[in-house]
Amino acid sequence: LASSAAFGAAVAAPAAPLVMGFSQVGAESEWRSANTASIKAAAKQDGVTLKFADAQQKQENQVKAIRSFIAQKVDVIAFSPVVESGWDTVLREAKAAKIPVILTDRAVNVSDPSLFVSFIGSDFVEEGRKAGRWLLERAAKNPGADLNIVELQGTVGSAPALDRKKGFEEVIAGNPKLKISRSQSGDFTRAKGKEVMEAFLKAKDKKIDVLYAHNDDMAIGAIQAIEEAGLKPGKDILIISIDGVKGAFEAMLAGKLNVTVECNPLLGPQLMQLAREVVAGKTVAKRITTLEGVFPAEVAAKELPNRRY
Ligand code: AHR
Repeated sequence: LASSAAFGAAVAAPAAPLVMGFSQVGAESEWRSANTASIKAAAKQDGVTLKFADAQQKQENQVKAIRSFIAQKVDVIAFSPVVESGWDTVLREAKAAKIPVILTDRAVNVSDPSLFVSFIGSDFVEEGRKAGRWLLERAAKNPGADLNIVELQGTVGSAPALDRKKGFEEVIAGNPKLKISRSQSGDFTRAKGKEVMEAFLKAKDKKIDVLYAHNDDMAIGAIQAIEEAGLKPGKDILIISIDGVKGAFEAMLAGKLNVTVECNPLLGPQLMQLAREVVAGKTVAKRITTLEGVFPAEVAAKELPNRRY
């Protein structure tokens, strides 16, 4: 058999690979590392040329990266916005250049929703509610006692910090015995989580019963601070966190963390598929929500072998 080219027939030039500019928040957590790995692996697997930029948790770096993607005329821009607001100008520039923008993981607050085509990621308010529901159930087993809660928030102004706070507060409002006495940002990192928890513990004005951390990394940092203060994390202080990374499962197995609410970082394959559809001009859903579970310490040993991040 000869190829059609041998007979002089026109052969279509191979399609140029899709080029995606991706601006990542940073490398602040175990979750983020898994998210980056998933995006890079999916791009490779899918034959997508990925231009990847790490913003080191700074919005100005993300704006620069997006402008550079526009200048390079990429086919599609995807990014996980470090904070919610302040995106209108640069997204208008992308729209004027006719480059579609996909949000992954975190949302933006823009005046014109046509500035992005789709948003794929978790429902952070619901994650906060799940954390709150776990505490409500736990508190119901010990009625009568007031529970003093301290909160480690994520990055100030970021969608997960705002939404996880909102969802948790909404649920615990159902029990007047549950009160947040202190709430401060630990910027989603272990180092800051530890530092802020140390300050909470030093205040010594009220016994701390519960720590609600907006991610596992801050909870793991706080666990160290609690141990250094001579207390038993997971026993003297109940600890609730979000993400479901392996480090959290190990902490649960060691009896130091009570529950983690899942936030799935493995968005790469869905993102590549979505990007292809968008670039092909297909109509796509404006919001794609990832499905997630809740893992209390009692199921940690069974679940750990199944964890992929
Ligand atoms: O936006 C998702 C959050 O960002 C994850 O919960 C956290 O670990 C990460 O830094």
